Amino acid sequence: MNTLLGIANLSVSFPLSSGLLDMFSADREWHLRVLEDISLDLGQGETLGLVGESGSGKTTLARAVLGLVPRSAGTITFDGEAIAGRSDRAFRTMRRKAAMMFQDPVASLSPRRKVGALLVEPHIIHGEPLIDRAEAAARLLALVGLPAAFADRYPHELSGGQARRVGVARALALNPKMVLADEPTAGLDVSVQGEILNLMARLKGEFGLSYIVVTHNLALIRHVSDRLAIMYLGRLVEVGATADIFRMPRHPYTRALLEAEPIPDPRRRRASLAIEGEIPSILNRPVGCEFHTRCAVARDRCRGQAPEFTRYAPGCAVRCHYPLE
Ligand SMILES: Nc1ncnc2c1ncn2[C@@H]1O[C@H](COP(=O)(O)OP(=O)(O)OP(=O)(O)O)[C@@H](O)[C@H]1O
Ligand SMILES: [Mg+2]
Repeated sequence: MNTLLGIANLSVSFPLSSGLLDMFSADREWHLRVLEDISLDLGQGETLGLVGESGSGKTTLARAVLGLVPRSAGTITFDGEAIAGRSDRAFRTMRRKAAMMFQDPVASLSPRRKVGALLVEPHIIHGEPLIDRAEAAARLLALVGLPAAFADRYPHELSGGQARRVGVARALALNPKMVLADEPTAGLDVSVQGEILNLMARLKGEFGLSYIVVTHNLALIRHVSDRLAIMYLGRLVEVGATADIFRMPRHPYTRALLEAEPIPDPRRRRASLAIEGEIPSILNRPVGCEFHTRCAVARDRCRGQAPEFTRYAPGCAVRCHYPLE
């Protein structure tokens, strides 16, 4: 499979605002290390599910890929081009070919603009000529199964599922190659979640898209993703084929996440590896393996030495001293 997106050793940190911290550390600059050394590829036509607890850095990763937050280290290549800095021409080209569906669709749509105006915004932002705006909006609405009359509605007049459809349509406005969908089904009824995923799958086939789908919902992503990437405290801990990960997760964290999912499966008779305790703060990352404080199978080495992200097959890797077998 050809690689569409390549992320290598990507790190992102945010400077901590001054205030209380300055009293303790006037001479030190404090940073919140939100993403640490992320390496990940996305193949042409592939759907990758990005999974992890709240605060693990999923949204930040999607935003960093598109240059919406600055990276502190790492390289990104897209469609054969290396993307250097934020103002880089390659980044602008990339943002035309890579679209983001934001986490909260209604909040991410300007409330005072009608759907029709929102749908042609990408053209305007990127200076793409548009002969007939109404026609372009109608075409995009039709793509996602909404009547042309929706162009006259305001975002708050849409149901959750309709707002999500508008988000999909807006993402497709400029014929992208890649769509980064941040929690595309969060907050929707189960039946509507299925509709949105089916719509995304159909459009993927129609337009040859590649997807990164950010989600908490393993049961749902299971059926639409080719590979899964599992994040913990801003690091990838496991990447692999979806079917393999469900059959045999290698990282204890992945296994615990899967066991927390209410998927009825009579064949599943593993000893339980429930996640213990609270998720640590990224301000105070555990020494050694950062998962050891919650890991049911941690040993001495895990408390002292950080494991590498080790590739065991093409496109598959795990960050654990003692991967499960
Ligand atoms: N602009 C920012 N400035 C400072 N900290 C930030 C910023 N954006 C994100 N963070 C912090 O980075 C961490 C990761 O946030 P992020 O939103 O990427 O997580 P997430 O995995 O998408 O979570 P969720 O599942 O809740 O959407 C959090 O601790 C968050 O507070
Ligand atoms: Mg998020």
